[in-house]
Amino acid sequence: ASVVEEHVSEMVGTEREYEEYADVDWDNLGFGLVRTDYMFATKSYREGNFQEGCLSRYGNIELNPAAGILNYGQGLIEGMKAYRGEDGRILLFRPELNAMRMKEGAERMCMHSPSVQQFMEGVKQTVLANRRWVPPPGKGSLYLRPLLFGSGPSLGVSAALEYTFLVFGSPVQNYFKEGTGALNLYVEEVIPRAYRGGTGAVKAISNYGPVLEAMRRAKARGFSDVLYLDAETKKNIEEVSASNIFLVKGNTIVTPATNGTILGGITRKSVIEIALDLGYKVEERNVPVEELKEAEEVFCTGTATGVASVGSITFHNSRIEYNVGDGIVTQQLRSMLVGIQTGSIQDTKDWVLQI
Ligand code: COI
Repeated sequence: ASVVEEHVSEMVGTEREYEEYADVDWDNLGFGLVRTDYMFATKSYREGNFQEGCLSRYGNIELNPAAGILNYGQGLIEGMKAYRGEDGRILLFRPELNAMRMKEGAERMCMHSPSVQQFMEGVKQTVLANRRWVPPPGKGSLYLRPLLFGSGPSLGVSAALEYTFLVFGSPVQNYFKEGTGALNLYVEEVIPRAYRGGTGAVKAISNYGPVLEAMRRAKARGFSDVLYLDAETKKNIEEVSASNIFLVKGNTIVTPATNGTILGGITRKSVIEIALDLGYKVEERNVPVEELKEAEEVFCTGTATGVASVGSITFHNSRIEYNVGDGIVTQQLRSMLVGIQTGSIQDTKDWVLQI
């Protein structure tokens, strides 16, 4: 899929905003930023509570050069998606889990955090104000990016006294340039993603910059993404740059346990619950890199990624190939998840929120 870069919304402020759909080439969406109409923002007071917050036109923001985010990396991201169902309803998937994860991350990073209600309010307002950017059914989703960052100044190393919670969105389709095709992963043996006691388990912005070089090298060699090993022993697999990983071995599904260095993905959690419902056995534990040879299927999960089949993993220059295509376990789990998210499969678990 081609990437739609910086789609300029020349229609902002006109009656066009009330149209059902924005002027987007829905068949050619990738994961590039498409500018929408509005964003939501609120700031915290010194004692840590957040103000009510409001929508403004999507655009650049002003920051104090001494802001905590710019100087000391106090920042968290979230990722969630709003889907348009066949019946026109707009649905969010387990949004309160994102709100809670942001709160946990904020504690780890010494930041104020919005309450679950304030988080939900910001997300809902952003989706409703940008509803014409929610793609038609089957054409993708409105990806939402809630941000929390230190906006107050700190010169010496210290936690900022003021934080900004901001939500923006962009219509997206497939995260990888492979589209719905299988991914070819490369096991990175030098650069770790996370370490014990670090921030691997929270969505700190500082988890991403340090792996860009590993990604750049792997992509230059034709791989889709990188699979990281644990920093301590370099013996166990952990996760991919922006997704969790699963192995399918017969009726058993295996994934690395969230032991503090792995991000507890909401798609990961949901896929585990779906797999258990479907009668699979799920093992969350250490997964030695050698075990990759024993799997029939491998897949990645993430909000941005969805459930993506892995076609091969290269480790020590040897390439392991996996089953991809129709009728496989990955496919079954993906259809269940997407069905629930888009409202075509009945939501018996109260996972979906209509807004
Ligand atoms: C998501 O899946 O939503 C993420 O946040 C991963 C990412 C950094 C693109």
